[in-house]
Amino acid sequence: MRKIEYSETDQRGLDSVEPLWLKLNKHHKSRSRHFKNYFKNYTFETRKQGLLEKSHQGTMHIGLATDANTGKLVGYCISTISGSHGEVDSIYIEKEYRYSGIGSNLIKKAIAWMDKMSVSKRIVAVAAGNEEAFGFYARYNFYPQMNILEQIQ
Ligand SMILES: CC(C)(COP(=O)(O)OP(=O)(O)OC[C@H]1O[C@@H](n2cnc3c(N)ncnc32)[C@H](O)[C@@H]1OP(=O)(O)O)[C@@H](O)C(=O)NCCC(=O)NCCS
Repeated sequence: MRKIEYSETDQRGLDSVEPLWLKLNKHHKSRSRHFKNYFKNYTFETRKQGLLEKSHQGTMHIGLATDANTGKLVGYCISTISGSHGEVDSIYIEKEYRYSGIGSNLIKKAIAWMDKMSVSKRIVAVAAGNEEAFGFYARYNFYPQMNILEQIQ
């Protein structure tokens, strides 16, 4: 049986999620109808800088899930707080580890962190094409509120 170990860190953990983030970006690219090029050109460095700019010291939370038998990182969840708004910015679980509660454990830790930080509003942006994730978020009371359309330039 798989044993998963959980840990929590801040922006210092960002670099460790790069291999999984690259898989998430590929996942978004494969599902996107109009923005394949956007995901094709999106780099981890750009994403990392965006997250660092968005959060100040102490306002980023990273939950990590590691397979205790292999020592490999199998899931992560990055959240930030800007002002009084919390955002689940990025979450990814390795395909063969899904549907076993890891995503739930990580999002619960992110929400607990936001509770502790007295965040008034919590959001998550779901890329168009990735609506299959709605069912997961609905379990934590996140529902679609608005569709943002972006002009392709
Ligand atoms: C979405 C994701 C993070 C969920 O992680 P997970 O570890 O598989 O989730 P859990 O096992 O904790 O599932 C919790 C519940 O959500 C449901 N769920 C999980 N993924 C789901 C999905 N894609 N669609 C609908 N329901 C889903 C599960 O059925 C489970 O319900 P149950 O307990 O009644 O069976 C994972 O599927 C993933 O990494 N997907 C690819 C990347 C992605 O889409 N990330 C989100 C970017 S916005």
